Order: sequence, then C-alpha cells, then structure tokens
Amino acid sequence: MARITAGLTTSHIPAVGAAIDLGKTEEPYWQPVFDGYDWTKKWAAVNPPDVVILTYNDHASAFTPDVVPTFALGCADEFPPADEGYGPRPVPVVQGHSDLAAHLAESLILDEFDLTLMYELQVDHGLTVPLSLVYGQPEQWPTRVIPLAVNVVQYPVPTGNRCLNLGKAIRRAVQSFDEDLSVQVWSTGGMSHQLQGPRAGFINKPFDNAFFDRLIKDPEDLARLSHFEYLREAGSEGIELVAWLIMRGALGPDVEELHRHYHVPGSNTAVGHLVLRPADQ
Ligand code: DHB
Ligand code: FE
Repeated sequence: MARITAGLTTSHIPAVGAAIDLGKTEEPYWQPVFDGYDWTKKWAAVNPPDVVILTYNDHASAFTPDVVPTFALGCADEFPPADEGYGPRPVPVVQGHSDLAAHLAESLILDEFDLTLMYELQVDHGLTVPLSLVYGQPEQWPTRVIPLAVNVVQYPVPTGNRCLNLGKAIRRAVQSFDEDLSVQVWSTGGMSHQLQGPRAGFINKPFDNAFFDRLIKDPEDLARLSHFEYLREAGSEGIELVAWLIMRGALGPDVEELHRHYHVPGSNTAVGHLVLRPADQ
C-alpha cells in the first residue's frame, strides 16, 4: 500500500529561483532565506519519497484568464518548466507518476472532487522553486512529482475548508493505491504578501506565526478562516496560504513538527517553511 510519509510547505518566491539559478544564494540579502532550508536539504537527502504530490498555484503561465480550473491534477509523464517571460528556468523536466495520478483522478472524482485532468502541463515557479529549495541543482529531480494546481489567483478561489477536505480525500486515495510507495505532500505559496495597490509590501508577522501554529494544532478551526480574513490579514497574494490546508488534511489528525523557518523579507513576501510528519509514520 502507498502511504503518506511527510508533509512540507514553503513559499515559492520567483526571485528565490533566480537567486539559485544565478548563483546568488550566499549574498547577504539571500543567505538568511536559504539558511532555513539547510535542515530540510539534509532531511530530504535521507528521506527520499517515491512521489511528491505538489500543490501550487499557476501564475497565468499554463492557464490564462480564459481557463480557470479550481483544482487541476497533472496526469502526464512529464511536465516541462514554463517560460514565464524570461525563458524557462534552467531546471530538469519534472517526471510525473501517471499511474498514481490516474488512481488519484479516479478516487478523488468518485469522492466528489471534480478535478480538471491535465495531460499536458507546463509548471511555473510555484512548483519548480520549492523543488530547487529542497533538492538544489541536480541533473534530474530525485523524485517523481504529481502537480496539483489550485486557483488562488482569480476570484472565486476555493475555501480553506474545501482545501482541507481535498487533503483528507488525497489521504484516502493514496492509502488505497495498491503499490508500496512513499508519498510526500507539499503545498507551496504564502506567507503574507501583497504585490499590488496601496498595501503593496504588506507583511503580517503575528498572523503568519499564528498560522503555522493553527495549521499544525487545529486545522479544523483554521479551515473556517474566511477569504476576507486572508485578504485583510495576509494580503491579496497571502490567499495562497489557503492551499497549505491540502497538505495538512493529507497528513491525518495528528502531526509532529520537524522543522520551521520564517524570515522577512524574501522579495516582497514573508518566507515561510514547515516540515511535518504524520503521527502514524
Ligand atoms: C512574489 C511572490 C510570489 O509568490 C509570486 O508568485 C510572485 C512574486 C514576490 O515576492 O515578488
Ligand atoms: Fe505566488
């Protein structure tokens, strides 16, 4: 049987990808951002999963405002990095796991989550920057990845409760896959940030730190946070945090916190990162 062995969340700031690609990680501005991933890199090297189910939001790279799937599952064998306006990032093509993805599609749709199924998908910084933060600059990514794109860009976006429940359904789906696979669930985006308008540059440290604690200890309560509260407390792009509840739902009721990192600023955002282990692992 497949099992969920860990969960991870991280910001996916595009400038972090550029800092890695251009060899700037040791510059004084970036060093404290990357220092917080040293623990994770060591942990990841000795805890290789077979597959990562990676929830992220596409930033008008693969989807245009004409096509806005709420949840889109990557069912292909490969996912090339998207050209976000300055050429694709110099990172390996992401290898998928089409058998597990087909099982997830069937299980989740029969579980009443009407996903969009993607048999071709280019992946942007929302997915590739987290892989770079955890795995550095390898020739090939050391794990297969099933992308799960969540719309948090164009209103209306899913509720936290819907995301938590989707995570729980992913747990049921993984646990009913008849192959002995170690599966991690990663959710990317956040933390507080606003890229536009009079509040551009908005950061809310107390909210972000409480969000970590609530995600770990009381996700059911956190799932009731309204969109209005996300926008007010975390900024317009801080709404990306809603998808962290997918990871949390997939880990089951109780988790152990293995690692936490928080740093301000990273580009225009608060950098936030967690590694969690489900209580049954
Ligand atoms: C920034 C952060 C994001 O999450 C994003 O998708 C785009 C830009 C930023 O901080 O610049
Ligand atoms: Fe983003």
